[in-house]
Amino acid sequence: MRLSQTGDVWWKSAVFYCADVETFQDSDGDGIGDLRGMTERLEYLADLGVTCLWLMPFYPTAGRDDGYDITDFFGVDPRLGTLGDFVELVRTARSRGIRVIVDFVMNHTSDRHPWFRSARRSVDDPYRRHYVWSPTKPRTSKAEVVFPDQEDSIWELDDKTGEYYLHHFYKTQPDLNVANPAVQEEIARTLGFWLELGVSGFRIDAVPFLFAEDTYPGSEPGGFDPQRYLKDVRDFVTRRLGDAALLGEVNLPYPQQKEFFGGADGDGLNMQFDFNGMQRLYLSLARGDAGPLTSALRERPPLDVTSQWANFVRNHDELTLDKLSIAERKEVFAAFGPDPGMQLYGRGLRRRLPTMLGGDQRRIRLVYSLMFSLPGTPTLFYGEEIGLGENLDVEGRLAVRTPMQWDAGANGGFSTAPRRRLTRPQPAGLWGPEHVNAADQRQDPGSLWSFVRTLIRRYRQMPQIGWSDVEVLDHDVPAVLAHVCRCEDWRLLAIHNLGADDALVTLDLGTVPEGTVLRDVLDGRDDQPLDPSGRVEVRVDGYRGQWLRVLTPGELAYA
Ligand code: GLC
Repeated sequence: MRLSQTGDVWWKSAVFYCADVETFQDSDGDGIGDLRGMTERLEYLADLGVTCLWLMPFYPTAGRDDGYDITDFFGVDPRLGTLGDFVELVRTARSRGIRVIVDFVMNHTSDRHPWFRSARRSVDDPYRRHYVWSPTKPRTSKAEVVFPDQEDSIWELDDKTGEYYLHHFYKTQPDLNVANPAVQEEIARTLGFWLELGVSGFRIDAVPFLFAEDTYPGSEPGGFDPQRYLKDVRDFVTRRLGDAALLGEVNLPYPQQKEFFGGADGDGLNMQFDFNGMQRLYLSLARGDAGPLTSALRERPPLDVTSQWANFVRNHDELTLDKLSIAERKEVFAAFGPDPGMQLYGRGLRRRLPTMLGGDQRRIRLVYSLMFSLPGTPTLFYGEEIGLGENLDVEGRLAVRTPMQWDAGANGGFSTAPRRRLTRPQPAGLWGPEHVNAADQRQDPGSLWSFVRTLIRRYRQMPQIGWSDVEVLDHDVPAVLAHVCRCEDWRLLAIHNLGADDALVTLDLGTVPEGTVLRDVLDGRDDQPLDPSGRVEVRVDGYRGQWLRVLTPGELAYA
């Protein structure tokens, strides 16, 4: 049986959508989104064509990192609902053909988690070794600190016991000692719990830290093998649920990412975000030059058949540009976030795509057309489908996590609470709900929402895109990216013009059978006959994308 036809590896051709329960839909008028509100909106996601919903953390939390500082791995933040609401959400989603994956944050706990409260009581506490302690303060290099605006070290003195604990993120997020078998057991228990409640997998937070043995000068490495442990986790999860997916947050260079996919048969993570491709996409956009993205696509390591890239344009964090050189980063800052208030940690922008592109619909659509045409699994961050903007008045990374804008009414239909009680203020003016909302766009066939829905539909009609290898074609127009997705004999030629000027590109597709045509599957233009030499000239308007199926006479018979 062909894997691509069984759905066993469903993540290879899924459409992912990341949402935060707190900012999606409030059902009880307290100004805070909740699980019941999210459940009411599943119809919307199904209509859009989403097939997998990724929920950001909704667990009990100390509230110091928007839910990424958990105080109980087995519960639901009472502001957002109950476990009963969660089960109803998962069940309703399934009935609409949507899987649910949840954020799994076990590199660290909150410092208010009962384990850490106990651990800091004494050096002999039974939970002491759940965390990483050093009797002296190890030196920290600046590069190790993830949030340099708040922290200057990854070690914090615990007054009572006089030792330092490790925290890669905020000091309120002590790192768990994953080399400790007792912690590994807790990790398994937690994964098993959520699988039992119906989730289809996990988005694993901070993978390079989670699967690492944390040592410090003078500590004794314990013979912990992170790759082996990742494989153990994968084995555990697939024993519990055969087709569970592990989508990892691994912002590392490609060769290191490759290791996290596991060995030749892909026994590590199933999916990873393509952080490198994403960053070079922005450099390409800033320059109007396809070169940086081309080099990323050519460097992407080939994957085994079950592994997959998650393609994304924006997420809930800052748009990180940490893999670009300082000069390149400056170019992107100058183009898309020149004001220091838009920048964060010296490495990223706390903005969403449409505002960075000055609201230019042509460029916004170009970017999504490109993302959906790349081999991999497209992953949207809520609101991208309507062109939601950020609110820079909101602090730090939270600027891009404002409440969803459902309609033009009060609070954009997010909540019936008085505006001042909203969990976060929505943007005002041109980016406010009167101008940017889902209800209006769902009525309008020419809207961004309708365009994104069409992209999703085409992607789902052609699951081969997710299974493809990519080949970037050489030609002489620097602004244009021309790539071919190839899955056995199936081929899609995608051409995207990152520049403002119309372009004529001459491409060589290699010889094709007599009678082969190029069929436009986005705009529905007439078929273009292809010379058997495979050489073809294609005209692309500025800031436009085209998706062209290469159809041989044999395929035309049933296309
Ligand atoms: C990941 C999350 C981020 C969070 C951090 C710590 O990077 O994406 O939002 O702050 O992990 O959990």
